[in-house]
Amino acid sequence: MRTQVAIIGGGPSGLLLSQLLHRKGIDNVVLERKTRDYVLGRIRAGILETGFVDLMRQAGVGARMDAESFTHDGTVIACGNAMFDINFKQRTGSHVVVYGQTEVTRDLYDAREAMGGTIVFNAENVAIHDATGAPHVTYESEGQSHRLDCDYVVGCDGFHGVSRQSIPRSVRREYEKAYPFGWLGVLSQTPPVHEELIYSCSDRGFALCSMRNANLSRYYVQCSLDDSPDDWSDAAFWEELKRRLPDEIAAKLVTGPSIEKSIAPLRSFVTEPMRWGNLFLCGDAAHIVPPTGAKGLNTAASDIHYLYNGLARFYLEGDAQGLEEYSAKALARVWKAERFSWWMTNLLHRFPDQTEFDLKMQQADLAFLRENEAAQTVFAQNYVGLPY
Ligand code: APR
Ligand code: PHB
Repeated sequence: MRTQVAIIGGGPSGLLLSQLLHRKGIDNVVLERKTRDYVLGRIRAGILETGFVDLMRQAGVGARMDAESFTHDGTVIACGNAMFDINFKQRTGSHVVVYGQTEVTRDLYDAREAMGGTIVFNAENVAIHDATGAPHVTYESEGQSHRLDCDYVVGCDGFHGVSRQSIPRSVRREYEKAYPFGWLGVLSQTPPVHEELIYSCSDRGFALCSMRNANLSRYYVQCSLDDSPDDWSDAAFWEELKRRLPDEIAAKLVTGPSIEKSIAPLRSFVTEPMRWGNLFLCGDAAHIVPPTGAKGLNTAASDIHYLYNGLARFYLEGDAQGLEEYSAKALARVWKAERFSWWMTNLLHRFPDQTEFDLKMQQADLAFLRENEAAQTVFAQNYVGLPY
């Protein structure tokens, strides 16, 4: 087979790029290691920056999102029993959209199918060849070996994918920070405890109250990396969550059986460059953020924005400048999202090795954020998404 752009990975990054390119008449093939159902079974965050929302509409995939999502004009920061609201609308004129990543991915799969897009599921042993020359990708599917010749390869295959590893270690610069705790997440068919998200910093650790819709809530508590979901009964989870929330919120919490319970480690990671010859990296293949600032999917979106426009400019106008600028432009925004996610994680979590002085710094940071309009504007600008 031959295509113009070979996309490795059928998660949100790969699907969004595939859909955008197809609508511009740029031929592409998506190679996904798993099945569609497996990909849709992953529970991920659900906060979309308006830049992502615009890209989904540009891809012709915005209808259900526009019909079913919620607009949030702010978020609540709680510390002990004190709570304050950061009003995105007032500080930036913008907002975020609440719409589960699973729904984003489902809409993208449906759109690819409707357009007759080529997605190879259960693509095994994907390998990239001659990335700096005339690239091609090999893979196995249904017991057959295949070769896909292409102009460009785009690695949208996430942190554990093959693309980043296909760039020689001597070329790659990697930056990483692992956090000494995880997030235990629970999904429950219960009404959200508050109309906005609540990020809570308590003596017992971080907690987050989020949602998917009016009867589907998503909650998290910071937990030890030694924990496993089986260590936490539903009752134990709800009890701990209540102890980390202001009394007035804990009193309103509607609990119920967990329909999903999982623990995710927290990591900051960036690889540079995000291009090597005719291989480009997008999304989690190139960078990871702790989920605190909800920047994972939204930073993948800005990568896709830059690369899609660079590829369209190349194929439709013969101008390769967008592709030449891709890595530097994408990384400039990635690093700002990394900083905000790192800062917000340090602001709201309890670290095992925290000294009394560290705690005082955290309390001063929170007090300044509560009291200072400029600090809230900086928070809001980062949370709603810096411009592309
Ligand atoms: N070959 C083919 N497909 C692969 C390979 C491989 N070697 N390795 C991984 N994949 C697939 C995975 O099965 C997955 O469906 O690539 C996809 C990568 O998707 P994500 O990990 O979701 O990454 P991305 O699309 O960049 O999305 C970034 O979504 O998953 C969240 O936390 C993530 O919020 C972030 C956003
Ligand atoms: C979620 O709803 O899963 C969610 C929301 C905000 C975050 C992280 C996760 O910062």
